[in-house]
Amino acid sequence: MKLWGGRFSKNTDSEVNDFNSSIRFDQRMYRQDILGSIAHAKMLGKCNIIPKEDSELIVKTLGEILSDIEDGKVEFLIDAEDIHMNIETILTQRIGDAGKRLHTGRSRNDQVALDIRMYIKDEITDIKKKVISLEKVLLKLASENLDTIMPGYTHLQKAQPITLAHHTMAYFEMFKRDIERLDDCYKRTNVMPLGSGALAATTYPLDREFVAKELGFCSVTLNSLDGVSDRDFVIELASCLSILIMHLSRYSEELILWNTNEFQFVEMDDSCSTGSSIMPQKKNPDVAELIRGKTGRVYGDLISILTTMKGIPLAYNKDMQEDKECIFDAIDTIRLCVPVFEKMIATMKINKTAMYKGAGGGFTNATDAADYLVKKGMPFRQAHEVIGKMVAYALDQNKALSELSFEELKSCSDIITEDIYEAIDLKTCVNERNIIGGPAKAAVEKAIASARDYIAEFDKM
Ligand code: ARG
Repeated sequence: MKLWGGRFSKNTDSEVNDFNSSIRFDQRMYRQDILGSIAHAKMLGKCNIIPKEDSELIVKTLGEILSDIEDGKVEFLIDAEDIHMNIETILTQRIGDAGKRLHTGRSRNDQVALDIRMYIKDEITDIKKKVISLEKVLLKLASENLDTIMPGYTHLQKAQPITLAHHTMAYFEMFKRDIERLDDCYKRTNVMPLGSGALAATTYPLDREFVAKELGFCSVTLNSLDGVSDRDFVIELASCLSILIMHLSRYSEELILWNTNEFQFVEMDDSCSTGSSIMPQKKNPDVAELIRGKTGRVYGDLISILTTMKGIPLAYNKDMQEDKECIFDAIDTIRLCVPVFEKMIATMKINKTAMYKGAGGGFTNATDAADYLVKKGMPFRQAHEVIGKMVAYALDQNKALSELSFEELKSCSDIITEDIYEAIDLKTCVNERNIIGGPAKAAVEKAIASARDYIAEFDKM
């Protein structure tokens, strides 16, 4: 019989039973469910709501059930519907009436709200570690490439020269914001909902703060209706993960381009590439493509939870069971993607020559040529026009600006002197951009130093 079977005279239809059951996917919260129940049982005993001996027996037996599950000795039953009732059923099978006292002053509605919060807290901590590990690889890549000049793009057209270090640190910043977002999401997840009951709290004098402390929560929820029907933290995590994977996807897209025969800026390691079953010459950047592809499913998970929640009246409704598969999928996807992405970055070969060559074409130093004139007193708009004409002339001659003779340069403006060659040298172009946030070697060195300090803080934790 169902734990809730008292008022029913018929068994649940077996198809309905399967349909309703969430044990297939919510069994992964067994640990959180048991730890939550242990804290609840301790509190019930402490507050004399159930006999002390029963409380102690429940706590001890739940501990045993936990290790039995971990040893693979427990088989969950579809019939017991979800993880909460599975655990309670096993407990009652083992200790009888004492087990039946566990659910005093509690509903599955606040229980599931607790479990999912605990689960998400654990996952945020783990995902954060993975992102920090990726950040370390980016820092290494950046510090090895402070002098690696490459073209920076706008509209995917060569724009101005930068360095690979500067480019890499752009992604460092993005992932840093992802870490901050995860921290922020953690704060709002870190609120303990048990005691909300089904929706209207409970008549028992529960010590909610005790339970919160036992389970490492910062505070307790302040409204029982909200306590059971809030899934904002699930949505927040899904959106944090969506932004995170969007960053991975943009990076992947760049690396896919860079890895092409046309660019040849990088070469993916054999260990992170795959071949073609028909074309013997092929080596494909599947890891990057798959991450770009999986971005869609994480967005889907976010949209799915948002859509599920949008029409739900207070308080709990069964629709909310649908939050789990989505957030689990988003979490699983991120947990897969971040480490393989890290591996791919750590093993790829950088082709400094191709990058430098790429930075040279396309008049990436045209802005610097204009700035050269400005520094000699010409208004910027006029300088823009003069250099525009110079570019048109050079294009006509099929030459780069630096390949024009001094006479040719001088004919564009007579304030030009020999030092223009130095001013439009790619290295000068990069290193003159020495302000906070700029690509100059000195500026990026500073950025790397403060990034190292930021990451070191996590190692101290
Ligand atoms: N399996 C359910 C869920 O994930 C647990 C809560 C069930 N509550 C209820 N009143 N049916 O949402």
